[in-house]
Amino acid sequence: MSDRYCVFGNPVGHSRSPAIHAAFAAQCRQDLMYEAILAPRDGFVDAVRRFVAGGGRGASVTVPFKEEACLVAKRLTDRAKIAGAVNTLVFEGSAVLGDNTDGYGLLRDLTHNLSCQVTGKRVLLLGAGGAARGVIAPLLDTQPAALVVANRTAARAHDLAQRVSRADSLGACGYPQLAGQSFDLVINATSASLGGKLPPLPEGVFAAGSLAYDMMYGQGRTPFLVFAGRQGAARLVDGLGMLVEQAAEAFRIWRGMRPDTTPVMAMLRAAEPAPSATQ
Ligand code: ATR
Repeated sequence: MSDRYCVFGNPVGHSRSPAIHAAFAAQCRQDLMYEAILAPRDGFVDAVRRFVAGGGRGASVTVPFKEEACLVAKRLTDRAKIAGAVNTLVFEGSAVLGDNTDGYGLLRDLTHNLSCQVTGKRVLLLGAGGAARGVIAPLLDTQPAALVVANRTAARAHDLAQRVSRADSLGACGYPQLAGQSFDLVINATSASLGGKLPPLPEGVFAAGSLAYDMMYGQGRTPFLVFAGRQGAARLVDGLGMLVEQAAEAFRIWRGMRPDTTPVMAMLRAAEPAPSATQ
């Protein structure tokens, strides 16, 4: 019987993860089955238990279960602890390991696929929810000249910065305080794009030659990327690369081999997915 993996989410019908992992498995000649499981909002833990009892070897976790998944795991990696969220579960007998590959996925997409070095750059991270929490520590690890977290609810940005505060280069504020500042890299980690909305950014935050990155992906440009283009950002990038890279890191954790992500990204681009969150 094939080894079983899945993604838990609600909703999960939009998920590209089954297609991504099927492509990785074919490429790496791994005999595995990967399905999407819609868990009830109040039934995530039971759904995981059932999956493990049925021989499940590992799982991806997406909205809205990434935080609850921390409680399911008996052991957390450091990056999952800092993020306070788990997107990858490994079932080893009765032991459950929780990891978070989102930050890795973002950094790998930026530095490897897009040749965008973060070190020494001025970086603006929009949002202070789960998506921002997953990437803030890996971003800081790359030693940007400055990292500013901006959020609609400024207090949440301050809380997030305090959670990881270990660098003078880290700042936090609301959107109005961004007026007069500009950045080389602006990352949208809010869920605004999901609702077709734009975070209330002041004009002028995109420095000449800057890269605008929306963690969301989908058909056409998100309102954030349209705004960034009008404001003079030189490069506009959606989150498809991050999605595939975080999945590749999960695949490496589960199967011990790293798939080539380039053909898988090309396959997904050709399929033109509908707007969606990561995973
Ligand atoms: P997730 O886990 O996906 O990050 P979340 O914890 O609900 O979800 O966080 C959503 C983030 O998107 C928050 O930073 C939220 O801002 P608030 O903390 O002020 O709610 C942000 N967000 C959602 N819609 C937004 C919008 N229209 N404009 C700006 N920020 C928005």
